[in-house]
Amino acid sequence: MAAPSMSAHIPIFVIVLLSAVSCSYPSLTNRNGSETDLAALLALKAQLADPLRILADNWTTGTSFCHWVGVSCSLRRQRVTALSLVDTRLVGSLAPHIGNLSFLSILNLTRNNLMGSIPVELGRLHRLRYLDLMRNRFSDAIPTTLGNLTRLVRLRLGYNELSGQIRPGMLIRMHNLKEIVLHQNELGGQIPLYLFNNTPSLAVIHLGNNSLSGPIPTALASLSMLEVFSVQHNQLSGLLPQAMFNMSKLRVMAFEDCGNLTGMIPTNQSFSLPMLQFFTLAGNKFAGRFPIGFASCQYLQALDLSRNSFVDVVPTWLAKLSQLKKLLLGSNNLTGFIPVALSNLTSLSMLALDNGNLKGEIPHELGLIHELWYLNLGQNQLTGKIPDSLGNLSKLSTLGLYRNQLSGQVPTTFEKIVHLNKLVLNHNNLTGNLDFLSALSKCRQLQILDMSSNSFTGILPGYVGNISTQLSMFIAHSNKLTGGLPLAISNLSNIYLIDISNNLFVEPSQNPSLCWKILYILISPTMIWQALSQHKWVCS
Ligand SMILES: *[C@@H]1O[C@H](CO)[C@@H](O)[C@H](O)[C@H]1NC(C)=O
Ligand SMILES: *[C@@H]1O[C@H](CO)[C@@H](O)[C@H](O)[C@H]1NC(C)=O
Ligand SMILES: *[C@@H]1O[C@H](CO)[C@@H](O)[C@H](O)[C@H]1NC(C)=O
Ligand SMILES: *[C@@H]1O[C@H](CO)[C@@H](O)[C@H](O)[C@H]1NC(C)=O
Ligand SMILES: *[C@@H]1O[C@H](CO)[C@@H](O)[C@H](O)[C@H]1NC(C)=O
Ligand SMILES: *[C@@H]1O[C@H](CO)[C@@H](O)[C@H](O)[C@H]1NC(C)=O
Ligand SMILES: *[C@@H]1O[C@H](CO)[C@@H](O)[C@H](O)[C@H]1NC(C)=O
Ligand SMILES: *[C@@H]1O[C@H](CO)[C@@H](O)[C@H](O)[C@H]1NC(C)=O
Ligand SMILES: *[C@@H]1O[C@H](CO)[C@@H](O)[C@H](O)[C@H]1NC(C)=O
Ligand SMILES: *[C@@H]1O[C@H](CO)[C@@H](O)[C@H](O)[C@H]1NC(C)=O
Ligand SMILES: *[C@@H]1O[C@H](CO)[C@@H](O)[C@H](O)[C@H]1NC(C)=O
Ligand SMILES: *[C@@H]1O[C@H](CO)[C@@H](O)[C@H](O)[C@H]1NC(C)=O
Repeated sequence: MAAPSMSAHIPIFVIVLLSAVSCSYPSLTNRNGSETDLAALLALKAQLADPLRILADNWTTGTSFCHWVGVSCSLRRQRVTALSLVDTRLVGSLAPHIGNLSFLSILNLTRNNLMGSIPVELGRLHRLRYLDLMRNRFSDAIPTTLGNLTRLVRLRLGYNELSGQIRPGMLIRMHNLKEIVLHQNELGGQIPLYLFNNTPSLAVIHLGNNSLSGPIPTALASLSMLEVFSVQHNQLSGLLPQAMFNMSKLRVMAFEDCGNLTGMIPTNQSFSLPMLQFFTLAGNKFAGRFPIGFASCQYLQALDLSRNSFVDVVPTWLAKLSQLKKLLLGSNNLTGFIPVALSNLTSLSMLALDNGNLKGEIPHELGLIHELWYLNLGQNQLTGKIPDSLGNLSKLSTLGLYRNQLSGQVPTTFEKIVHLNKLVLNHNNLTGNLDFLSALSKCRQLQILDMSSNSFTGILPGYVGNISTQLSMFIAHSNKLTGGLPLAISNLSNIYLIDISNNLFVEPSQNPSLCWKILYILISPTMIWQALSQHKWVCS
């Protein structure tokens, strides 16, 4: 991408060159440009700690700096045009001399440990097209002089510790800008209202994980090339501009945990996002029904509307979104039944419909969504049995069915869910003995098993000790279990929480490793138990 546009600038270089030669005005020093570049590179090197000895062993004056690692020069003159030291663990601050590399068009120092301010002198590099300082520890405000970089195409300052505000005029002269990444810094204040008024080519905007407040500028919607807009994890407020829902190129819209964003999402022809792939609005204040406009986003892969105030059924139009991988609608006011049509979404890997008011049974057809690795239906009013077919979800890692009114036994088909990591069944009316624990011993990755507050009966069988050695939490309190804690439980070498309180266990015996009726925390595999302070038994 860089090559053709750089050759387009060669005539300008030539003109600059010719005028420099013909005028031959005296410089402050006697250095020619090439010598100035050398001095600048050496100044940079001198100020950086270099634990991998990348510069120390290579940037030596024996060879022309044009052959130094990370340095590229213009063909006709010995001037540095690109400096790219990526992931080289350089530590320290950038010498201001960097502003003397006046032919520089690419500066890429991503993934180092550079700190201190971004030198104001960078603003002198008027040929700069790519500036990438991502993943360093630069602090303080973004220098206003960067606003002089009129040829900039990509500006990436994400994953640093930059603070202060984004200045209103920062981008006003960056007519060619295609990408701005300020993600994960400590920037505050508002997104300036006119920030994007002179950046018609802008395609990518990442402002997420900062402390930005105030509204999202309406003018954004006039960026006709915009493909990615992400502002998640800020403290924005106000209305999400309606016009943003009519943008022909937009692929990614991320508004997760923005704070207090509200608004109506258009339901008529004003909603047109034909290229949309990723949309998250989680953790805001949106209300009303789920916007039907998404039904026409045929490329949609992720739709996260969770943690808002939508009141709606789980729409059947979702079943048309055949590319959908992630569908998260939890913590809204979901009503009605789980639609069988969801089983048409065979690419779905995450489905969350938790924390609503869903009624009825879990459709056994959900067992057809073979790609699922996360399924959360917890905290609804689901009734009936857990369908055996869920055992067909062999990729499932997390299954949450907690806080419903499910009854019957836990299907032994769960033995087929070999990747199961978390099984959370608490607060239902599940019954039966604990035979399913034997089935679960086939799930060698199980880490968390919560079956508390149900109506399980019988004794805790010895094969509880055969559950995965990965098991770290076994929570079975508030059931109707009898007997005692089998010694085989000591096979669970990674366990740190066993809670079998509030069952029908008999009084503790003298054997200190067989204490019951209390909340146990196993601190080490060698059977050292300690009760939480509010419980009376301590065995050790
Ligand atoms: C700049 O100076 C260096 C060494 O002093 C010399 O080798 C080089 O040819 C000079 N370059 C130009 C363009 O004058
Ligand atoms: C410096 O690194 C470059 C590029 O990896 C290599 O071509 C050159 O030989 C190295 N120079 C020295 C002196 O090690
Ligand atoms: C280069 O930059 C530094 C610091 O910004 C400055 O002190 C120096 O005089 C500049 N010029 C040359 C020719 O090195
Ligand atoms: C900087 O280098 C990294 C790693 O090679 C690359 O991913 C990134 O795109 C480069 N930055 C720019 C602005 O080209
Ligand atoms: C660069 O920007 C600063 C501050 O925005 C300004 O004062 C200065 O005149 C600009 N310099 C050039 C060469 O444009
Ligand atoms: C953004 O911040 C959130 C909340 O602090 C955090 O969970 C998330 O990992 C961050 N994202 C990135 C990409 O840094
Ligand atoms: C949202 O608004 C409430 C009430 O006005 C306020 O207390 C809260 O701090 C706001 N939250 C954010 C993240 O801005
Ligand atoms: C679409 O609905 C919005 C309200 O949601 C309304 O403001 C707008 O005028 C409508 N547009 C059309 C083209 O009907
Ligand atoms: C959607 O955007 C297009 C292009 O910007 C515009 O022409 C059209 O009027 C907009 N449609 C609606 C209904 O707002
Ligand atoms: C689900 O798929 C079946 C078979 O492919 C099809 O008949 C049905 O209409 C689809 N349902 C929805 C809601 O798209
Ligand atoms: C959820 O929606 C139902 C039906 O509209 C309503 O009766 C109920 O009060 C709502 N609950 C909450 C917590 O908003
Ligand atoms: C739980 O199931 C048992 C046995 O089926 C039944 O007697 C009881 O009423 C149920 N309890 C609740 C709260 O639904």
